[in-house]
Amino acid sequence: MCVKPKAALAGLETYTPDVAKASDGAPIRLSVNEGALGASPKAVAALGAMGGAMGAQLHRYPEQIDGALVAAIAAYSGCDAARILPSNGSDELIGLLATAYCDAGDEAIITQYGFLVFRQAITIAGGVAVVAEDDGLTASVEAILASITPRTKLIFLANPNNPTGTMLGRGEVERLIAHVPKHVVIVLDAAYAEYVEDADYTAGADLVDRHENVVMLRTFSKLFGLAQLRLGWGYFPPHIYATIAAIRGAFSVNGAAAVAGAAALADAEFYQRALNHNRQWMPKIQASIRQAGFMPLPSVANFFLIRFADDKAAAKAHAFLAARGILLRKMRPYGLADCLRMSIGTDAEMEAVSAAFKDLEL
Ligand SMILES: Cc1ncc(COP(=O)(O)O)c(C=O)c1O
Repeated sequence: MCVKPKAALAGLETYTPDVAKASDGAPIRLSVNEGALGASPKAVAALGAMGGAMGAQLHRYPEQIDGALVAAIAAYSGCDAARILPSNGSDELIGLLATAYCDAGDEAIITQYGFLVFRQAITIAGGVAVVAEDDGLTASVEAILASITPRTKLIFLANPNNPTGTMLGRGEVERLIAHVPKHVVIVLDAAYAEYVEDADYTAGADLVDRHENVVMLRTFSKLFGLAQLRLGWGYFPPHIYATIAAIRGAFSVNGAAAVAGAAALADAEFYQRALNHNRQWMPKIQASIRQAGFMPLPSVANFFLIRFADDKAAAKAHAFLAARGILLRKMRPYGLADCLRMSIGTDAEMEAVSAAFKDLEL
């Protein structure tokens, strides 16, 4: 008999982000929804300044929960500092929530085209992922409510959703919360909240304040451009905060991430520039792809789907673009093999994409 991992892992589909290098030349990587403009210069400067000082401190563990970072997040978000928990990317919190609330065989609801990490986290925890069908490419509150059973422990809702770029408005999120039993935890994953300009949108902080079964997850990996450092945060009702803080890995947020994160939050100029860049390019690049005869789909985030005639056409477009050093994300793992997902990049990258689509023949 050989050693075997726990039975739940037999069904695990490993999450594999598409960060491969394109075939030749400098790859234009638009496959991972990273921030277009890099990191805030203030965050980079803070890292540089800490470099020397930190050199002498590398043998020290970081703060278990970095007080300055939490204070900066509270000032930025208006959230209650006592219930803000930083993490090693928001992915860490997705895993911890599944681990904390799924006993073996318990159910957690995910949406049809929802973020794949949810399913992975539920499986690892020993739970069962129950899929609520989307309405087109948007999460359906009706379908989520219809999927609830006595075994449901969690609902994972990315809002806006990755990879579809669609969102639910405040009214729909509130309707969901109103109809979900209080013993079910509703996870509002607002990784792309910073980009959303729709007046009907809420990332959910006020909903966390008002409901003891609602949590909000945020990240520094997108608009703030700190993906490499792995920094996220969650906002929780007190009892969920206590549970997640108790099972979070000790020192899971490293000192460099904490310093850079706090500095990034204080850089209003970079924040506005990143937002303006996205606001400017989203309609512009979509118009240019449409003009070339292809079909970009609406998005409220910093990425969008492009729908092709069929799976083969999408694969061919992916290969054509990769040969030009432009890497988009294939959507087969999400059940959308006729689509590719593209993030907004720099001005030069968007010009290159625009030119490539003009030359694309399928
Ligand atoms: C919906 C969603 N949630 C969470 C994450 C993970 O973010 P982090 O880098 O903070 O782990 C992503 C990253 O792509 C995402 O798309």
